Amino acid sequence: MKKASIVIDKDFIVDRVDPRIYGSFIEHLGRAVYEGIYQPGSPFADEQGLRKDTIDLVRELNVPIVRYPGGNFVSGFHWEDSVGPKEERPSRVDLAWNVIETNQFGLNEFSDWAKKANTDVMMAVNLGTRGPEDAKNLLEYCNFNKGSYYSDLRRKHGYADPHNIKLWCLGNEMDGPWQMGHKTAYEYGRTAAEAGRLMKMMDPSIELVACGSSFLDMPTFAQWEATVLEECYNQVDYLSLHQYYGNQENDTPNFLASSVGMDRFISSVVSICDYVQAKKRGKKKINLSFDEWNVWYHSNEADQKLEKWVQAPHQLEDVYNFEDALLIGSLLITLLRHADRVKIACLAQLVNVIAPIMTSDTGAWRQTIFYPFFHASNYARGTVLNTLVKSPVYDSRFGDAPYLDSVLVMNEEEESLTVLAVNKSLDEDMEITCDLRQFAGYQVVEHITMSHDDMKAVNTQEDPDQVKPVSGGVSKVESGVLSAVLGKHSWNVIRLKKA
Ligand code: AHR
Repeated sequence: MKKASIVIDKDFIVDRVDPRIYGSFIEHLGRAVYEGIYQPGSPFADEQGLRKDTIDLVRELNVPIVRYPGGNFVSGFHWEDSVGPKEERPSRVDLAWNVIETNQFGLNEFSDWAKKANTDVMMAVNLGTRGPEDAKNLLEYCNFNKGSYYSDLRRKHGYADPHNIKLWCLGNEMDGPWQMGHKTAYEYGRTAAEAGRLMKMMDPSIELVACGSSFLDMPTFAQWEATVLEECYNQVDYLSLHQYYGNQENDTPNFLASSVGMDRFISSVVSICDYVQAKKRGKKKINLSFDEWNVWYHSNEADQKLEKWVQAPHQLEDVYNFEDALLIGSLLITLLRHADRVKIACLAQLVNVIAPIMTSDTGAWRQTIFYPFFHASNYARGTVLNTLVKSPVYDSRFGDAPYLDSVLVMNEEEESLTVLAVNKSLDEDMEITCDLRQFAGYQVVEHITMSHDDMKAVNTQEDPDQVKPVSGGVSKVESGVLSAVLGKHSWNVIRLKKA
């Protein structure tokens, strides 16, 4: 049995968890929108064609914010195509994903969907093929009350009240040569500054996210962030990070060590933000929006063979297995451990496309990765404690990787504590201890665990409960010390409350 301990002090905190760390993402891509959240004529659809079964599962996940409408898609998007009478909306060629976009679902419908799904919209503007003027017009359409061309157009389209969208992404992955309207860091930084300036002149209450690198191994990483921020520091509030992980080599220990990679990525971007702040001798801190993160690799091969220029194909439909869920748990822990700087994060994506929720004509189901997200989003809200995790380590492609990933979130109002923990050992259980004497009277109310003998086990529509959590893990508080046994390769949620 492996042994590890977690050291905490009630007064040593990282920060309050910004609820938006549990955000997600819906792009016009594959079957995310069409058949995922919108399917008129389906027995699951409501009067607007919105799938009620999907909405129920999104509400279950308790997602406070959903990024929309892309992704790569946004860099060629004309938002005007997606509003007004549906019969007048044009079908367009989408060069990002080689498909036809019918525009039968657009930003007004998305705003209605968001209300029903109990979430807020995080809107992206096209800074690829378009620029500051169009970004400002879109903001006017969404947030301006009335008496101007675009606000009155929205009212004519049946939306008297402004959508009042508070969080905006200035483009998407503009460092990527695959991106429509790809730019150098300086070109993008200037465009983002000017778009941001116009947008904040129109609505000073909004917050803006500038594009960081598309992933850590981009050749321009670090210099991209520094140059972009030097140009648009005063206009923006957050810098984005994107990263997807995969187990292409079928090497589970290395795959599970990816959270070490995420941790370093976040620390590096924090350093760059602070470097630019120091250069500018500014008071303002730039925080992070990790607005695309997930496992993505299972569908790569199938996607190579897809027919082009069709509507809503089965694209990026990763079927997630148990080890993916374990890594998602570790990545959530990593994001939470950086709650002082990571204020927004979006699991990419939400429905059908690299998603926790899948749909078909006959129903919706939860993929394996649904569960750790559900647990963190529902139970790990409050204040993250600064934990010192003393764990044995193993050698990985990222260097030393701890067998134990864990975080403690305290909720003083509810007098509760939540421990999220992953034991990455593939062959040994782990005994953990944590001195909780500062939390007098706290007792374990539930120890949820999720594990499976087969690391590759999946949930399908026919067999949706192959991988699912159960209550009944072994843990207790005795003489003020929490002790628990974490099964080999397991995800754990230990919930404590003051008795
Ligand atoms: O989420 C899928 C794609 O991954 C997004 O469109 C893009 O931003 C990223 O490369």
